[in-house]
Amino acid sequence: MRTEVAGKVDPRIKYPSYKSFDEFIDVEWLKSLDGYITERIERRLAEQKDTQFYTGPFRLNDQAADRPGSKMVYLSQSTVPDDYYNLDQPKLWEPAAAATEFSELMDFIATLPFKATGRMLIMYDPEGRAVTAHRDHISYDLCHEFIWFRTNLRKPFYLLNEKTGEKQYVESHSAWFDSVNQFHGGDARDGLAFSIRVDGVFSDEFKAHIPVPEYNRASMPSLWACISV
Ligand SMILES: [Fe+2]
Repeated sequence: MRTEVAGKVDPRIKYPSYKSFDEFIDVEWLKSLDGYITERIERRLAEQKDTQFYTGPFRLNDQAADRPGSKMVYLSQSTVPDDYYNLDQPKLWEPAAAATEFSELMDFIATLPFKATGRMLIMYDPEGRAVTAHRDHISYDLCHEFIWFRTNLRKPFYLLNEKTGEKQYVESHSAWFDSVNQFHGGDARDGLAFSIRVDGVFSDEFKAHIPVPEYNRASMPSLWACISV
């Protein structure tokens, strides 16, 4: 479904934008997990047991692939039927088998500024194909609290303002971004590419630093990014 971004946002917000979380996380620890995660993904590839990533219906271009090639490893699993609107509800998620397999990654995740976690997954593509530009949902008053992060900077990942055509490539190892009022996607790059996304509820102490928009709650990461530079 091709949908125009229609949410009104605080005039201080500019798109594309994202909030780097590198200042809040242990980047050196994250980088040190590169080989560990790569090795385990390669093992899983041989077993071909992971499901395909689906962009959802809100793509920039209707003709672009909604299953562009990435696969997912769920580190947690939902105890109720899959519903995108459950992903930030910790009570509905329990550790999946892969949490044991990726236990060192789970140790790192435990240091992130969450009070509780919900959906946790690794997205990977052995061929590093492009990820179709999309928005995650169109509920402007819903802001998912998540951290997207990666152990290396090889794969180009961008935020896009579809009205101006401007793209902003993420330069950090981690980010929280508005996934509703702007598009996001990835360019192709040869070889295995992966990133991790953890959704949940930020800790109260952490949340105290985050400016809350008066309307269009989904724009919270961009408001923060735009007024903190
Ligand atoms: Fe997405």
